[in-house]
Parts: sequence; structure tokens; C-alpha cells
Amino acid sequence: MKRTVLAVVTVLATSAALIQPVQAGGHAKSLRSVAPRDLRIGTAVAGGGHHLDQPYPDPFTYDKPYRRVLAKEFNSASPENQMKWEFIHPERNKYNFGPADAIVKFARQNGQVVRGHTLLWHSQNPAWLNEGTFTKAELRQILKSHIFTVVGRYKGKIQQWDVANEIFNENGEYRSENIWIRELGPGIIADAFRWAHQADPKAQLFLNDYGVEWPGVKVDAYEALAKQLLADRVPLHGFASQAHLSMRYGAPDQLAGVLQRFDDLGLKTAITELDVRMDLPEGGAPTAEQLATQASYYKTTLDACLAVAGCNSFTIWGFTDKYSWVPVFFPAEGAATVMWDDFTKKPAYYTLRDTLAAARR
Ligand code: G3I
Repeated sequence: MKRTVLAVVTVLATSAALIQPVQAGGHAKSLRSVAPRDLRIGTAVAGGGHHLDQPYPDPFTYDKPYRRVLAKEFNSASPENQMKWEFIHPERNKYNFGPADAIVKFARQNGQVVRGHTLLWHSQNPAWLNEGTFTKAELRQILKSHIFTVVGRYKGKIQQWDVANEIFNENGEYRSENIWIRELGPGIIADAFRWAHQADPKAQLFLNDYGVEWPGVKVDAYEALAKQLLADRVPLHGFASQAHLSMRYGAPDQLAGVLQRFDDLGLKTAITELDVRMDLPEGGAPTAEQLATQASYYKTTLDACLAVAGCNSFTIWGFTDKYSWVPVFFPAEGAATVMWDDFTKKPAYYTLRDTLAAARR
């Protein structure tokens, strides 16, 4: 059954949000408290990756106001880097579970589920893996052992795993940079799902990518792969759109249709890494018009998820500009999240909250 979203109500809510005074938190309602009961509202948990080069200590560990907002606003948490290979498996025979354990513990203490990210990816793999010389049999065993070790450690504590991340390029071909697919062939994808399922039979196992917000060859490639995996009885449970959006490229106005194609296959769907970056004017402060457009992109993405029955997880890739990956990768762009550096809220935040509240009724 589709959730009903009242367009009129949400348009009015969006306009109201734009003139609403900034609130720092306090007793204001949170995103998680107003959301439909069958929809998890998540965020990436900042740490590792680009944060290691920034002049601040680990955000999740040391930023108390950050932790308060994280606990208050969200009921799903995605380790931004802390479960990636280079972070959690830095040497061949050494795992670094501390940071991921801390997130899983925090999540349980705060009534949050966790999205595990990620198991089979071309990026952020450790040097020992990228530069090592292994036979095909050894590589296969390395992946299998990693999946059983990491998924097994968090068995029963992870709601969804991004098993295969960004495996297709923009032409709908398997990425040649992906060590697993390049060396072992695409059949390794099915194995990764099977191993993850054996290690944690209750976890929902996902394909996850960016650039799948509009129909095209990349979405076609995922649809064909999903059909094949399901025909082969591989434990694939979901397809996720990361939704890293830029105001240079327009609103994701066909996203509901894309998600519906996977829903029609019987899969769950999710939004896993939403942010909306913009070109920053001189001086760095976005205009009111830019913030309104950004809010509308956030809303279009949430509406797409709300319109599809099996879309039960909606995650933004960080909630404060203070820790966003965007300015590190796109120096001319920024302000991509729903809160300013001091956690005060942008129009996008209020638009999400009003849209969630309208959908819950
Ligand atoms: O690999 C280099 C290393 O050689 C160097 O010593 C080190 C210090 O400068 O930097 C390392 O690269 C960093 C990398 O993380 C690995 O730690 C990059 O500078 C850093 O920018 C990068 O950031 C992460 C990025 O993934 C890497 O792809 C971000 O923190 C993280 O937010 C981002 O998240 C990804 C999702 O996982 C998948 N979807 C896209 C999303 C945004 O890129």
C-alpha cells in the first residue's frame, strides 16, 4: 500500500519552514519522533575518511553536542567510514573493531538501527589488499573470511548491509577498478551476498550506488542484475539510491519511478546517503533562494521514498556542514547538509520534518 502524501499540506509546510526561526534543539520535535512508524530516519556517523585530515578530533567520539543531535534526531545510523575495509581491516591479520563497536553500542543505547557500509567496493581498500599479490583462490578466501568476520561480529545488530557498493560505472558496465570483480569475475557478487546471509540471516542485504536517481543504463544494469540474482535465489533484499545530489544537475524528480521498479521485483528500497550540494557564492553564504531550492530537493527525495511501499529507510550523509565530505571533494560547492556548523537548522531540515509529520498522520 502506498503512503499518501498530501501535496498541498507539504507545499504549505515548506513555505512555513522557510520563515521559521532557527532553533538549536531543546524541546522541538525531532525528525525521528514525527516520522511514519515504518520509516527509519538515518544519518552517516562522522569519522575516518576525510575527517582524518581535518583540524578536529574524531567527531563521533569527541563532539558532545554532535552526539546529542545524533541521538535525538535519528533512529538509524550508518558508519561513514568505520566499517570500510581500510578502517576495520587495516592489516591482513588485524581487525580494528573499536570505532565500529562504539557506534553499534551507541545505536543500541539510543534506539537506533545500524546500516552496515560496506563489504564489496572498489574504494577505501587497504594497501595490503590493493598492493598484495594473491592467487584467485586466496583473494576469494580473503573476501569470504572478511565478510564472515565483520558481518558475524555484528550479527543481529545490523538492520541493513550495503553488501555491494558502486559496482557499475556510468555506462552500466562493471567497474574495472573493483578488485573483486576484476580478479574473480562478477559471480563474486552473488557469493558475497550468500556469505553475508550465512553470517547474519536476519540482516537485509543491499545493492547501493549513486547516479541511479534517474532512469538510464546504470539503473537498467542494476535491474538486470537484481533479476538475475533473484532468479538464482541469491539472498538479495534491497536496492538503494545514495542520492548525492548537486543543484547543478536538477531535482531527482524521477526517483520514485526508479525505486518502484525495484519494489516491483519484491525488493526493499532505501535512500542511503542523501545530501544536496550547491555552488557557494562569494563569501560562502548560500542565498535564501538557494536554501529554498535545496529544501525542495530534500523533499523530492523524501517524497520518492514515501511514495514507494518498501522504502523503509531514509538516510542523509551527515547532518551538519561542520563534518560534510562535500567541500573536501568539491571545493567550489558546499552547504550540502540540513544543519549549519553549529547545528542550527536550515530550511531543508524543517521541510523534511514537516513532510515526515504529514506522512505519519
Ligand atoms: O587514501 C588516502 C590516503 O592515501 C591518504 O593517506 C589519506 C590522508 O590524506 O587520505 C586517503 O583518502 C581519503 C579517503 O577517505 C580514505 O580514507 C580521502 O582523502 C577522503 O576524502 C575520503 O573520504 C571518504 C570518502 O567516502 C572516500 O570515498 C568520506 O569521508 C566519506 O564520506 C565518503 O563516503 C562515500 C560513501 O562511502 C559511498 N558513497 C559516496 C560517499 C561520498 O564520497
